[in-house]
Amino acid sequence: MCGIVGYAGRRDALPILLDGLKRLEYRGYDSAGVAIVGSALQVMKDKGFIANLEAQLPPLKGSTGFAHTRWATHGAPSKVNAHPHVDCTGKIALAHNGIIENYASLREKLQARGHTFVSQTDTESLVHLIESYYDGDLEAATRKALGDVRGSYAILAVHADEPGKVIGARNESPLVVGIGPDENFLASDVPALLRYTDRVAYVMDREMVVITPKGVTIKDLEGHVVQREPQRITWSLEDAEKGGFEHFMLKEIHEAPQAIHETLLGRLANLEVDGFLSEGVTSVKLVACGTSYHAALVGKYVIEEIARIPASAELASEYRYSQGATERPLVLLLSQSGETADTLGAAREAHRRGCKTLAICNVIGSSLSREVDKTIYTRAGIEIGVAATKTFIAQLVVLYLIALKLGQDRGTLGYDELDRLKDQLRSLPRAAQYVLNKADEIRSLAQKYGAEAKDMFYIGRHANYPVAMEGALKIKEISYIHAEAYAAGELKHGPLALLTPSTPVIAVVAQDPTYEKMRSNVGEVSARGSPVLAIGTEGDKELPKFVDDVFEIPSLPWIFSPVPVSVALQLFAYEAARIRNCPIDKPRNLAKSVTVE
Ligand code: F6R
Repeated sequence: MCGIVGYAGRRDALPILLDGLKRLEYRGYDSAGVAIVGSALQVMKDKGFIANLEAQLPPLKGSTGFAHTRWATHGAPSKVNAHPHVDCTGKIALAHNGIIENYASLREKLQARGHTFVSQTDTESLVHLIESYYDGDLEAATRKALGDVRGSYAILAVHADEPGKVIGARNESPLVVGIGPDENFLASDVPALLRYTDRVAYVMDREMVVITPKGVTIKDLEGHVVQREPQRITWSLEDAEKGGFEHFMLKEIHEAPQAIHETLLGRLANLEVDGFLSEGVTSVKLVACGTSYHAALVGKYVIEEIARIPASAELASEYRYSQGATERPLVLLLSQSGETADTLGAAREAHRRGCKTLAICNVIGSSLSREVDKTIYTRAGIEIGVAATKTFIAQLVVLYLIALKLGQDRGTLGYDELDRLKDQLRSLPRAAQYVLNKADEIRSLAQKYGAEAKDMFYIGRHANYPVAMEGALKIKEISYIHAEAYAAGELKHGPLALLTPSTPVIAVVAQDPTYEKMRSNVGEVSARGSPVLAIGTEGDKELPKFVDDVFEIPSLPWIFSPVPVSVALQLFAYEAARIRNCPIDKPRNLAKSVTVE
């Protein structure tokens, strides 16, 4: 995720672009840059926050241009990888949000034709491709170039010889046009524009847009003009930064389908997962903290189920104490931030023990990525809410990919089985969306079960046991309800003593091999008078007979059920916290990244 903002008007572009860009900083802040067309094309960029760029900027003159704030996906955060990227002639500048999937082959072809590349980014291929098609018309060249590109993008481009014009295009990354008198704007998100205009038009997938001071033209990729009525935005600036959602956490829960989609992009067809090699892997140890540890536990079940390799999960803060093993597992370290001190310590410990290390991380260039042998990035985009949500879902997706890769390379998965699993992975954004579409139902369940509760129990089995643990963690940290999670079979060994009619139990009863046993466990709970809310599967006619309420996830192969179940439990925790008036994005005593042991 990155932020882009463009301007074509009569005023000096620079202050408008910087002001807009600062309102998009929540979309990424590892580097920033601007391109202004005045008497020539002027480009400035640097690593770090927008303020760092601003402090070094000369007063660039010109009333056309764009700016970019980056959240790295290809190529470490650095000055050279910052946007804008410029072609060999120095006349075309391009900023991009998204991922060009086939950038490597484009780069090879363009280099063979004599183009000189200076960065490690996927974006640079596109600016050279536009250059190769340029014949005096930037719009036509961009259209041709986009015809050769696979992946997701929102782009902005300018040409030194075409002042007064900014070209934009979108596929699966957001782009909005702001319409003003004698000036027009483009941006990744409405907050960047709202100070200047409240009239906006949304650019749709596979559409291009040209803005000049005089007007806005939207066309499809074939060049046909598309009519789009502008809308009036009534949100305040603060509301707009949250995309109209009340909290960042809610916005981020709603970004799960996009996070899944981006994390899978370009990785499924050949199971090329950032150079991960499964050669010689005979066992896997997954190590992490908090929510990432719960993903690790799901990963243990998933890897064992799909790849038939022994796997275990351990808390990073405990890993160093478990001495004595002679085996050398592949150690997977999971961390959203890549800065968690316990996880960094565990990575060093794994190296000391002679193990190969692989990180699963959401932040390119983080400390963890420098400690390990390889890193696979989740591409969930920046997460601002303290409670991890979409990044947990993206971690699960990477774990499925790793399990498939291990299963393929070890021959535990046949071709047909592999294809079937890949198709099912592709359908996960829809499964997450199915749950999000029923947000109202979750709100009333949260009212019923979460408004007054002092204690709650979460139960599940197999891969949905850690999902129950994660559900309990979410409700604890943001609603302050005391919650315990148990493997459902464990209740009878003690915790049943705590159940009363005022202790709601949230039970994950997916249609998996543990279904019958889960139903018995739910029966044990109901017999003690505790109200039971089950997360079940669409079309399960039996379950409602055993529980008070059922929230249905879509029917999908059980091994993937942790994804929609987790989205449902995240929303449930969010709604309970909202009803209880808790400070959701900044819960007490917590911080987004924990850099002490
Ligand atoms: C809970 C949460 C924390 C983190 C934990 C590890 O919602 O976000 O439990 O998961 O502090 O952080 P990372 O994943 O950055 O290592």
